[in-house]
Amino acid sequence: MEAVLTPVKTKEDLLFEDSLRPRSFEEFVGQETVKANLKIFIEAACKRDEQLDHVLLYGPPGLGKTSLAYLIAKKMGVGIKPTAGPVIERTGDLSAILSNLQSKEMLFIDEIHRLHPSVEEIMYAAMEDFCLDLVIGQGPSARSHKLQLKKFTLVGATTRAGRITPPLRGRFGIVHRLDYYKNEDLQKIIKRSASILKVSIDDKGAEQIALRSRGTPRVANRLLRRVRDYADVKGTGKITGKEATTSLDKMEVDSLGLDEVDRKILMTIIENFSGGPVGINTIAAAIDEEKDTIESIYEPFLMRIGFLERTTRGRRVSQKAYKHLGLASSSSPQKKLFKD
Ligand SMILES: Nc1ncnc2c1ncn2[C@@H]1O[C@H](COP(=O)(O)OP(=O)(O)OP(=O)(O)O)[C@@H](O)[C@H]1O
Ligand SMILES: [Mg+2]
Repeated sequence: MEAVLTPVKTKEDLLFEDSLRPRSFEEFVGQETVKANLKIFIEAACKRDEQLDHVLLYGPPGLGKTSLAYLIAKKMGVGIKPTAGPVIERTGDLSAILSNLQSKEMLFIDEIHRLHPSVEEIMYAAMEDFCLDLVIGQGPSARSHKLQLKKFTLVGATTRAGRITPPLRGRFGIVHRLDYYKNEDLQKIIKRSASILKVSIDDKGAEQIALRSRGTPRVANRLLRRVRDYADVKGTGKITGKEATTSLDKMEVDSLGLDEVDRKILMTIIENFSGGPVGINTIAAAIDEEKDTIESIYEPFLMRIGFLERTTRGRRVSQKAYKHLGLASSSSPQKKLFKD
């Protein structure tokens, strides 16, 4: 089965995300502290008739960073130009983008941790003093030229906050982390999406889908679409609690929303390292994933549901996880797949 539980955007999500994105702050469910803070900063900036301070949004994939970036611009009543870190290849590309920005306009840079170092360096003065230091020509005849920019707002988004360099991070006045959603918030999101997709769903149906959505709106919306297909073909067309549970079980969707990588991490620690503690570098090498993908995307979820514990000597799988995976507890001898 295709990765139905991955928090990372799939091709199929692309078709739906725009129509399901919240259109206003009011429609953006949950993240109350982040919203309340942003509202105050936006109101203050509007009152002073100034641009909003630079904003950095970070957190695991699918929690609403891009959606929120657009809503901030909307609430400010300004335009937003989207781009992404790896897309800006040369300093000239950045100069062109920045010099075309209007006063108070927003530049949204997704995956901002992937800016090229030379581009990032130019960004410092642009963010701080709204000027571009350009070097024209090469060698002894090179001249430096200062270009004044309009006062814009940079909105950066990333799933890897740890990869942002301190000088860049320090230039953001407003920094917010988005966190996993509570079940009741996911239910609201599911019901709203259901009404956009013209699916009928009851409270129990929304609750069952929310339970398996790993705290992530993107996953909730994806599961809703799968259950809808199932209800259309096999059922009455209405999603009830029973229908949701039956179809999610048939699709073998994990009851807590664990995806393949989550399982791989847990099983590797259990089978190869007797449940831990084991260092993050060793886990990363064993499952062939990047260390900071594990640290910023998978580990936060596994810790949140109490399946993984961080100790000074590394990560350890909890008894709760053994139980969920249908395994005997960590005190019993484990099968070893590889040599230590
Ligand atoms: N607070 C929310 N309320 C309602 N829907 C939401 C909310 N947050 C996210 N969504 C839904 O989840 C989808 C994914 O959100 P979004 O693209 O903003 O996440 P992201 O954090 O930018 O992910 P990525 O890290 O992959 O870029 C959106 O299309 C939207 O439908
Ligand atoms: Mg995004």
